[in-house]
Order: sequence, then structure tokens, then C-alpha cells
Amino acid sequence: MRLDKFLVKCNIGSRSEVKAYIKKGLIRIGDAVASKADADIDENNDEVYYRGERLIYKEFTYIILNKPSGVVTARTDNLDKTVMDLIDPLPAKDLSPVGRLDKDTTGLLIITNDGDLSHRMLSPKKHVDKTYLVKPEHSLSDDDIRRLCEGLDIGDDKPTLPAKAVLNEDGSLLLTIHEGRFHQVKRMLEAVDNRVISLKRVSFGGLVLPEDLKEGDWRELTEDEIQKIILR
Ligand code: URA
Repeated sequence: MRLDKFLVKCNIGSRSEVKAYIKKGLIRIGDAVASKADADIDENNDEVYYRGERLIYKEFTYIILNKPSGVVTARTDNLDKTVMDLIDPLPAKDLSPVGRLDKDTTGLLIITNDGDLSHRMLSPKKHVDKTYLVKPEHSLSDDDIRRLCEGLDIGDDKPTLPAKAVLNEDGSLLLTIHEGRFHQVKRMLEAVDNRVISLKRVSFGGLVLPEDLKEGDWRELTEDEIQKIILR
């Protein structure tokens, strides 16, 4: 890979900025100060330093965010704070949320620049599990649970696919769905004459929201976590 491309991918600056860093002698490859932006480097093995700090090349970046209520799942928005505003500074370029949570929904959101992974996790054909903790307005009956599990008419062309619904002792519901229709959980609750009071995504594609990740906090996924979602 060209040195300037590598430096841009490591997110230390734009193409013109990294060229200026090279000119200023701020980049080293091993012990040698780099002088050419088009130098060919081995991105996985060469030791490249910026102001003395080793740069590690990662093809993709994967972030887990515990989304708070009141922020929108978008890259930019004219009115509202976005999930991307919570990640400051952004550790990589071209990051986007994988799917969407409503403004008032909290919980697990993945943000990545791995477009293929994003596509696979959202593909209706892949039936990736998403589990939500739902606080309903009224208590749910056995019949409501049965209907939620079997699939029900929420006003679309087709009924929802079979889901898994587990009622907790406190009356909240753990609902696992394999689709991602618009406002799906809210519309499923409405279809059983109920209403969602609060909604939190607690797992997505085998990843569980870590208990120690507070609302508004984020971190990069560990290698194990990445493998878990990639190998699905
Ligand atoms: N279903 C909803 O209704 N809202 C969400 O944010 C996610 C799933």
C-alpha cells in the first residue's frame, strides 16, 4: 500500500495533511524518516511511526455504543444530536450505524465502516436475531405472548415472522425478532392493543450489550466479539 494511503487509513489526517507530515519528517518507517508519499509499504508488517507513535493498520473498525434516548441514529442531522456525535474523536473514517434504533430507543448499536458486514447483518435473508427489553403499558396476557410468538398482522403486506417472547417477573418482555421492519416492536405491541413505554436493544447478532457499558458510552469491539459477528 502507498504510504500516504496507509496514513489516511490510520486516520491521522487527510491526503494533503499526511503529505505535509511526510515533508516535515514526522513519519518514520522503522528507523528511517520517510520522504516519499508514494513509498510502497507492507501495511501489516512495516513499523510506521507518526511523531514517534506506532501506527497500527486496521482494515475496518467496529464500535459498540449503548445508545441513549434522545439521539438519532444517523450520520448527520440538522436538528438532533446523532449517535456519531457521541463518538468524539471518531477513531476511523467512513463509519456508519448498522441499522437504526428510534430516537427514544436505547441500547446496543454497532457502528462500522465494514459495509459488507453491515449489509449481512441487515439482510432480511440472514434472519439476524435482535433482542429487545420492552416495557409495555399494560400487562401482557398469555394470548398476547402467543400471538407475538406466532407472528401477527402489523399492517404490512405480510404478518411478522415467528418471534420469541419471554415475560419477566416484573412484567417486562424480552422479545427476539429476526427482521428489522420500521418501528417493528412498537407496532407488534400495538397489534396486541398495548403500547411500548420503553425499549432497549440488549443483543444483536450474537453480541450482548455489556453491563458495564453505560448509556452514551462506546468502545471498539474486541477481536473475539468481531469474530462472533463476522462468523455468523
Ligand atoms: N422496533 C421499534 O419499534 N423501534 C426500534 O427502535 C427498534 C425496533
